[in-house]
Amino acid sequence: MRLATSIAILGLAWMSSMANAAETLTVYSYRQAFLIDPILEDFTKQTGVKVEVVFSKNGIAERMAREGRLSPADLVLTSDFSRLIELADKGLVAPAESEQLAKNIPAVYRSPNNDWYALTKRVRNVYSSKERLGALDIDYEDLALPKYKGKICTRSGKHPYNVSLVASMIAHHGEQEAKTWLLGVKDNLARKPQGNDRAQVKAVKEGLCDIAIGNSYYLGKMLQDPQQVSWAEAVNINFPNQANRGSHINVSGMALAKYAPHKDNAIKLMEYLSGEKAQQSYAEVNMEYPVNPVVSPSQLVASWGDYKADELPIYKLAEFHQAAVKLLDEVKFDL
Ligand SMILES: [Fe+2]
Repeated sequence: MRLATSIAILGLAWMSSMANAAETLTVYSYRQAFLIDPILEDFTKQTGVKVEVVFSKNGIAERMAREGRLSPADLVLTSDFSRLIELADKGLVAPAESEQLAKNIPAVYRSPNNDWYALTKRVRNVYSSKERLGALDIDYEDLALPKYKGKICTRSGKHPYNVSLVASMIAHHGEQEAKTWLLGVKDNLARKPQGNDRAQVKAVKEGLCDIAIGNSYYLGKMLQDPQQVSWAEAVNINFPNQANRGSHINVSGMALAKYAPHKDNAIKLMEYLSGEKAQQSYAEVNMEYPVNPVVSPSQLVASWGDYKADELPIYKLAEFHQAAVKLLDEVKFDL
């Protein structure tokens, strides 16, 4: 009897270890297939764990809330910080405890209670017309100076990338000063906010404005696109606030789903994504800055030079996110 029980227990243990390798993880991803698929294929090759990805441009939080406990999602990948905060605020994520994650991802780039982690960094750069301004030693604060009146192009203030920048201005200067600054920037716009980050650089090339606000990796992407290379070549990339706090950083990231059916393997995947090989892929394929400090940026990105990053912890931006959205409404930035 005792022997039979032992055999049964052994059998169960054996089956569960097999089941582990045979599991299929489900990832909900705001990040695009060209970037994510090759990385996940390599994870499967290394571990035997298959991964199914549901790609979305919008609505992952709503979907997970609707699915509740029955959600198949194990892990969510986001292309920016505000989506991570949205998931956390809505109670859709669980803490992922892992020494490996703590080692791979510096503390300023993860949630203090481990319920989300950044995977890549990008700078919110100021691009200047080579022809009309040349390279600039510029601070975000300077974008409100009268000398730039009618010279600045940007996408919607409400886009997460700009909300995050405004949140960092509130974090550093307080709401009142940030509002004065934002009104100054609005006053300096060459046109109503519109289009994406690349469209602003194109507008500089076309002479509509002299300054474009945009993320770092887009310069790399434009340089590699035959249709867009001339836009990229018309601008200098400037890293703001180098003489003081450093350039504003936004991040892409990941979070373990609250009801992840395969939690252990999901954490294995998180560790893999923060590890050297996957981080190198992010750097090479999407020209972002790896969050893991032992991995270098791509050669092209490195050629833009070293820069000082604002060390305000990313989770601090969350505290000012709502205030930033409110401020953008108050000054009617997009109108
Ligand atoms: Fe982007």
